[in-house]
Amino acid sequence: MPATSSNGRHFDVVIIGAGAAGMMCAATAGQRGRSVLLIDHATRLAEKIRISGGGRCNFTNRRVGPEHYLSLNPHFARSALSRYTARDFIDLVQRHGIDFHERDWGQLFCDDSAQQIIEMLRAECAEGGVEWAMPASVQQIRHRPSVGDPADTHERFAIETDRGHFGASSLVIATGGLAIPKIGATPFGYRIAEQFGIPVVAPRPALVPLTLPPETLARLAPLAGISLEVEAHCRGPVFREAALVTHRGLSGPAILQVSSYWQAQAYHEEEWDPVSLDLLPGVDAEGWLLEHAHERTLLANLLAERLPRRFAHAWCELHGWTKPINQFRHAELRAIAASLADWRLVPAGTQGYAKAEVTLGGVDTRALSSKTMEARAVPGLHFIGEVMDVTGHLGGYNFQWAWSSGVACGLAA
Ligand code: FDA
Repeated sequence: MPATSSNGRHFDVVIIGAGAAGMMCAATAGQRGRSVLLIDHATRLAEKIRISGGGRCNFTNRRVGPEHYLSLNPHFARSALSRYTARDFIDLVQRHGIDFHERDWGQLFCDDSAQQIIEMLRAECAEGGVEWAMPASVQQIRHRPSVGDPADTHERFAIETDRGHFGASSLVIATGGLAIPKIGATPFGYRIAEQFGIPVVAPRPALVPLTLPPETLARLAPLAGISLEVEAHCRGPVFREAALVTHRGLSGPAILQVSSYWQAQAYHEEEWDPVSLDLLPGVDAEGWLLEHAHERTLLANLLAERLPRRFAHAWCELHGWTKPINQFRHAELRAIAASLADWRLVPAGTQGYAKAEVTLGGVDTRALSSKTMEARAVPGLHFIGEVMDVTGHLGGYNFQWAWSSGVACGLAA
């Protein structure tokens, strides 16, 4: 574990939160010659990186671009993402000799273990002479705005911890979001934003399984445990990935992706759209059903040619479509085709932060500089990573945001 820095010292940059964004920022600022202190309350370093990507860390994505992020300020992420790209992070990974592989949709994972990414970041911090206070809990932050000469950045912030107090010219908040509280997620960053009068977009769990109302669940019970490829959407983009019916509702990558958009509707005072699933992606369902309209086979048996058999039968039962296909009128087949292409489910909610991968919402980026991540109204105070209202799709996009925002801040703080 990193050593604890000595009490009472002044640093150019103090970073609270030694996760993905905090370490990236620390290494960048340290390697520029800034004196840097990283503070974290956890006993184990970067737990979220360790458990990410099933232990292999999906550390970035070859397709990174601002369209893969949700925010009330949708263009905010563009600048940092274009200045520190997925290619830059891949180069860093390669310099450290970490082998990796590509999965669907441009997702990059370590061949061996997420621990390699943690060790890489730790080594980069060491190269920048970064000091550590860990585990340390922050009790209070006091602010001394510069009076007169704005170039006077000395001791703008006093940070009181249970390991003593530290002074900082720049203070970086990198404490992440609320997902998985049992490994150390806290609302600390939002509290600091509030302390300094910076708005926070109400946080909500995202990339999270959706729950369904009891009456829908009772009807879907025979489908539980079945996974199938779908195209899912809810106002936002269409995601073609697996969906899984569970005993509590819906899960699987397609559902996690769409959950962020379903949740984002909370920010607009409109009616909430249901989640829509195309059960036969890429298939002209109407044409296909009409082509077989003369056959005496059960509709479920025909559907089972393209859907998991158990799903096809349970889905037909659910709708009362249990006849041979030649007993349906063409108008009925058209209605069935429409249901296959746009099966609408109204979620009751989500499984919450305990099962979420990330937090939607966070520190309102409209109050921050997209170049430096610095609060416009509080010189020297920066927010980076997931604590901000920038939420990536599933697939390595959230780590890339941590790296890009961390570097943008580390180059400026
Ligand atoms: P991060 O959460 O990494 O770090 C915050 C740090 O702040 C922690 O070290 C914490 O201990 C510390 N902290 C919190 N409160 C504090 C306080 N009060 N005082 C001091 N320290 C405090 N993304 C991706 O791109 N690819 C993937 O494969 C995955 N996989 C994945 C799996 C699971 C199960 C989860 C929960 C999440 C993912 N993610 C992911 C998301 C990704 O882990 C996440 O977006 C980044 O870790 C965010 O980086 P940050 O540095 O902002 O926060």
